[in-house]
Amino acid sequence: MSRTVFPSAAALAEEAAQRFAQAAGDVINSRGTFVIALSGGTTPRSLYAQLAGPLYASSVPWPLVQVLWGDERCVPPDHAASNYRMAREALLDHVPIPAANVHRIRGEDNPVAAARAYEQELRSLLGTPQGPPRDTPEARIDLVLLGLGDDGHTASLFPGAPLVTDGAPWVIAHRTHTEPPWRVTLTPVIINAAAEILFLVSGAGKAPIVQRVLEGPLRPDELPAQLIAPAHGRVHWLLDAAAARDLERLTP
Ligand code: 6PG
Repeated sequence: MSRTVFPSAAALAEEAAQRFAQAAGDVINSRGTFVIALSGGTTPRSLYAQLAGPLYASSVPWPLVQVLWGDERCVPPDHAASNYRMAREALLDHVPIPAANVHRIRGEDNPVAAARAYEQELRSLLGTPQGPPRDTPEARIDLVLLGLGDDGHTASLFPGAPLVTDGAPWVIAHRTHTEPPWRVTLTPVIINAAAEILFLVSGAGKAPIVQRVLEGPLRPDELPAQLIAPAHGRVHWLLDAAAARDLERLTP
């Protein structure tokens, strides 16, 4: 696991965009496609805006990019709380990505049905119709973007959520304490099979939880972000100085 601290949220977004473009180029050169799972919330919006800008809109081979979401709120796709809507407005409407490459979670459907359907779509995309994620480059998500909630959640894995173990589903629906309450989320089984995971965390409000997650005791039931520990993939934490303020060890 690596962690890098940036002077501002803007510098963090610029670095994340560069890493996204580099990963997309490398993976597409070797495999001809690039599978990304986008994060929701507000932090990634500036990254998406960077990617929609002139530097990356033309340099990233968007027609070969497959877009997933790490989680979704159970609302219609045009709802203000929709992670799909945020990414569509900030990025997808501004780059030449085919509609067939955009795999949104159907937040308007029954949550459990939406989770089941998404798992099948993910399995079909990654060529793994059943069983655990295959540990082969073509059968895993290439890059997962994640945020960190101030309660230690990531994606929609909240404290007290059903802890998932090997052999568990790749996608689950559950009721949370947030509004809207129901969420669909990828589980650690499939997130931890990813080739690369980028946590994007900014703002002084996240400093305490960043310190607990990265330097505190291992308590994944309380801090689901600590469940993200891929066996083979790489995890990078991109933090702005405000969010990293309470860290004792800036370099692991
Ligand atoms: C969501 C996200 C969630 C988010 C964190 C941080 O659907 O809200 O997936 O996990 O990344 O809550 O959100 P902010 O970036 O808004 O602080």
